[in-house]
Amino acid sequence: MDTQTRQRLIAAATAARAHAYAPYSHYSVGAALLTRTGKVYTGVNVENAAFPSGMCAERVAVFKAVSEGERSFAAIAVVTENGGAPCGACRQVLAEFGLDLEVVVADRAGRVVLETTLADLLPAAFQPDDLPREE
Ligand code: THU
Repeated sequence: MDTQTRQRLIAAATAARAHAYAPYSHYSVGAALLTRTGKVYTGVNVENAAFPSGMCAERVAVFKAVSEGERSFAAIAVVTENGGAPCGACRQVLAEFGLDLEVVVADRAGRVVLETTLADLLPAAFQPDDLPREE
């Protein structure tokens, strides 16, 4: 992705991260998902006293976007304290909408720790085409 897009997404994810609700792990995550039409949807992790009921930042961003009618994504930025990469469940949810997604991961200072594609993060992904079509 170009420098301007990378900075735009990292800035949006960093700003969103301030709204993370992470009273249990204290690990705040912000995500910013860019649609192919140029819109950005942000997400944060939202934890819950019933731990498994919480949700990751990346999936919040995807679900917000899809619920607004978006299905075509170009890139996602994820910002964490230390540049931790998206979890497996988030990779799977993102894979539903295309493996060519560009992924950039940055730390709390905005330093890029990883820049890759979803195809590289999730090899041999299970995708919609793997399901038999209805007759
Ligand atoms: N988390 C995310 O938001 N995204 C990831 O890809 C990894 C983990 C959140 C979930 C939980 O609220 C906290 O980080 C610690 O696991």
